[in-house]
Amino acid sequence: MSTPSIVILISGSGSNLQAIIDAVADKRIHANISAVISNRPDALGLAKTKTAGIRTIVIDHTKFTERTKFDEALTNQVAELNPDLIVLAGFMRILPKAFIEQYEGRILNIHPSLLPEFKGLHTHRRALEAGHDQHGASVHFVSNELDSGPVVIQAKLPVLDDDETSLAARVLKQEHIIYPLAIEWFTSGRLSLINNRVHFDNKPVNEIAIWQSDTLSLPR
Ligand code: GAR
Repeated sequence: MSTPSIVILISGSGSNLQAIIDAVADKRIHANISAVISNRPDALGLAKTKTAGIRTIVIDHTKFTERTKFDEALTNQVAELNPDLIVLAGFMRILPKAFIEQYEGRILNIHPSLLPEFKGLHTHRRALEAGHDQHGASVHFVSNELDSGPVVIQAKLPVLDDDETSLAARVLKQEHIIYPLAIEWFTSGRLSLINNRVHFDNKPVNEIAIWQSDTLSLPR
């Protein structure tokens, strides 16, 4: 089998992107990153991509008068790259429905909350305001609704004497651990989505994977 190819979509600083680049370099992920696409020309993640010698593509959403034209450009670009897996790493645009349907079961996203809680923005602030004693991040297959779709793995951590910044930083560190894991599971064929249900090692998953206190429990 040829090495699986990944396309990564970013909008910002690209720290998850860097964690994935590092995992590919260390052979913790067995895949090629064929390109990184950013919808923002100033995304810091683009510099990280260039440093790693990976192709960068900018599709600047502000240059399109209509949203559908941006969607079309993105769809055509991804089709040309023909990846096995699309990885959303802080990509802050909503993907078109047709795109999600076309690549169903082949798009992963990471979101900084214990989904289904706190979809959308300001997740850390909202977790603090809600007085939660636990918070974290989720990797999930992408479905048609924002920050929705079957969850694969969650990193859970206790809320300590945190403010929004410290909590975000602690969660982000865990994101850098769980995202490469989920990507490797997918590219090695252990993880799949069948009939909208997560499968691991060819079996439907009843309990998602959890990363907590430096311990991993596999999906079951
Ligand atoms: C990450 O915290 C990621 O979970 C979040 O954006 C940040 C990107 O940081 N994604 C979402 O909120 C998706 N709804 P990064 O660019 O440093 O990886």
